[in-house]
Amino acid sequence: MSALTVLPDGSRAESVEDNNVLESLRRHGTILTSPCGGEGTCGKCRIRVEEGSVNAPTPQERGLLGAALDAGDRLACQTTVQSDATVRIPASSRVPNVRVLTGGAPREVPFFPNVRRRTFTWERERLTDVESLVDAVAGMLDARADLRVDLPVVRELATGLEYGKTYEATIIGDRLVAVAPEAAAADPLGVALDLGTTTVVAQVVNLTTGEAVGTDSRMNDQSRFGSDVIARINHCFTEDHGLGELQDAVLSTIKECMAASGVDPSHVYEAVAVGNTTMMHLLAGISPESLGQLPYTPVMRAGVDVPASDFPMPFSDAASVHLMPGIAGYVGADTVAAMLAAGYDEEYDGVRLLADIGTNCELVLQRGAEIVACSTPAGPAFEGARLEHGMLAGPGAIERVTIGDTCEIRVVGRGEPSGICGSGVVDVTAQLLEAGIIEMTGRLVSGEDIPESLSDDIRDRIQSTEYGPIFVVARRDDGETVHVTQRDIRETQLAKAAVRTGIDTLLHSMDIRAADIDELLIAGGFGSYLNTANARRLGMIPDIDDEKIKYIGNAAIVGARLALISSEMRARGEELSRRVKHVQVALLPSFQDRFAEAMLFE
Ligand code: FES
Repeated sequence: MSALTVLPDGSRAESVEDNNVLESLRRHGTILTSPCGGEGTCGKCRIRVEEGSVNAPTPQERGLLGAALDAGDRLACQTTVQSDATVRIPASSRVPNVRVLTGGAPREVPFFPNVRRRTFTWERERLTDVESLVDAVAGMLDARADLRVDLPVVRELATGLEYGKTYEATIIGDRLVAVAPEAAAADPLGVALDLGTTTVVAQVVNLTTGEAVGTDSRMNDQSRFGSDVIARINHCFTEDHGLGELQDAVLSTIKECMAASGVDPSHVYEAVAVGNTTMMHLLAGISPESLGQLPYTPVMRAGVDVPASDFPMPFSDAASVHLMPGIAGYVGADTVAAMLAAGYDEEYDGVRLLADIGTNCELVLQRGAEIVACSTPAGPAFEGARLEHGMLAGPGAIERVTIGDTCEIRVVGRGEPSGICGSGVVDVTAQLLEAGIIEMTGRLVSGEDIPESLSDDIRDRIQSTEYGPIFVVARRDDGETVHVTQRDIRETQLAKAAVRTGIDTLLHSMDIRAADIDELLIAGGFGSYLNTANARRLGMIPDIDDEKIKYIGNAAIVGARLALISSEMRARGEELSRRVKHVQVALLPSFQDRFAEAMLFE
C-alpha cells in the first residue's frame, strides 16, 4: 500500500488495494468529476503527478491528454501508483458544490398525511365488552375498523400502559405503529426525497403542523459510477455487486442528508421518494437491466409502500417508505410528482406543456383532461459532462454569456471561471449563432469565413487548433482559457434537437400547434437558469412568448411533499400515473426525420 500526498492542501491519502488513484482519492474524501464512471472516456478526472512512480499511460490517456502527458498530467481513473506519490488536483477536476434547487411553487392542498397522531386515555372501564386489548385501543382511538397493530405495540399494551394515563398513538395508514406517554411523544416527522441522477434533496416535514423543519441536498454518491443512468445501468450489468453498490451509495447519500438536516431520524415515520425510474429501481434494490434495452420496460411502475427497515433507512423502526408511481421506463415518479405540483391532476382550460430538461428531458402536454408524456435523451451536454470545459452549475461555472463587441460572462459564485455549465452552453451557442460565428448546420466558422462585422476582440476569440476551431469564452489569470469546441457545439445541437423532437412529437400526437400553447412550465435545476430567449434562438423550445413561460423550480420535491402531507394527493398521483398516455418518441417512424430537422439551427 502506498501513500498519496494530495496537493494543493497537502493532505495524505492511502492507496486502495489496486492502487487506483481515483478510488484512493474518493476514499480519502476528495471526489473528482467522473461522468464516465472511471472508464477513461470523459477526460474529466485529470490530475498532475508531481512525484512518485505510476503506471504507463493507457491508450485512453494518450487519446485524451496528448501532449499534456509530458507535463505529468494523467487521468486519475487510469492511474495506479507504484510507490508513494504526490498528485495535484486542479480545481476543474473536483466535483463542485452543485447549485441544487430545493423548492418550487407551493400549492394549497388539504392537510391529511398518511401518518397521524391520536391521543387516548387508557381506561380500565373500556376493557369490558371488548374481545382484546387491541380492540380496546382501537375503540379508544375511534380508528378505522381494519386498524392493524404492530407487534411491538401489542407487547406494550400487554404490560406497559398505566390506567388513567394519556398516550399518543402514531398511526401510519391502517397501522398503529407506536404508543408513547403524551409528554414524551415528539411530533412525527416525514421526509420527501427527490432522488436525482446528480443530486439528492431531502425535505423534512412536521406531520402534525405541515411545516418544513429541515432541508438538505447533496451530490448523489452514485455519481462516482458515472454521470447518467445508462452508466449506472451498465454498472449493474458488468459488476457482480454493482446493484448493491449503487443502492448503498444512494442510501448513504440519504443518511448524510438526514444527518445534515438536524432532525432526530428516529422521529421520522414516513418517507415519500420520487426519482427517475432507474433511481427508483436502484433505491429499491431492483435490477434496472430491463431499462437498458428496448423497449425499456420497467420492472415496477405502481407506487409501493416498503418498511424502511428493508433498505435500511435511518428512520423510526416502524417507518414506512412510499415509492411514488412512475409512468414508463424513462418517465418516472419525479415526473408524476412534478405533475402533481403543477396541478395536472385537475382539468386545464387550455393547453400547457411541462418540461423538465436535464440529461433526460421529460415532457408532459395537457389539454383539458387529456395528458400525453414522453422523454427524450438530451444527453449530458446540459450538465456539462461531455463538453471540453463543461461542468456542473457550481462555483466557477460560466452560467451566462452575452456576445457583443466583447464576450461578457457571469460566473456562479462570481470568482474565476473554471468551466461552463448547461445554461452557459445554451447562451454561448445561441449568441455565436446570432453573431454568425456558427452556421445553420452548426459549423463553427474559421479563417476567411469569420464575419467582418465582428469586433477585433470577438475575432481574436475564434482560434484554430489541431482539433479544429474553438471560441474562447473566457481567459483565466493563469493563462488558460475556457472555450467551446466544434464538438461541444455538436453535443449541444444533439441535446437541443432531442428536446425539440420530443416537444414536436407530443404536439403532433394531439394535433396541437406550438402557437396554441397557453403555458410552458419549466421545471428542474437546469431549466430554472435557462435563458428562454437563447433557448428559442437555438430552436430548443418553440416560439412561445415570455409571458406564457413559468419557472416552477424543483417541482419533483414539491410533489413528493404534497404526497407526504396529503393522502388525497398521493391517490391522485397514483391515478395520474395510470391515466397519462406515454409516447415512445424514438420508436415512431417519424422520429429520424423530425430529429434531423431539429438538428439544424433556425
Ligand atoms: Fe476518468 Fe472519466 S476519464 S472518470
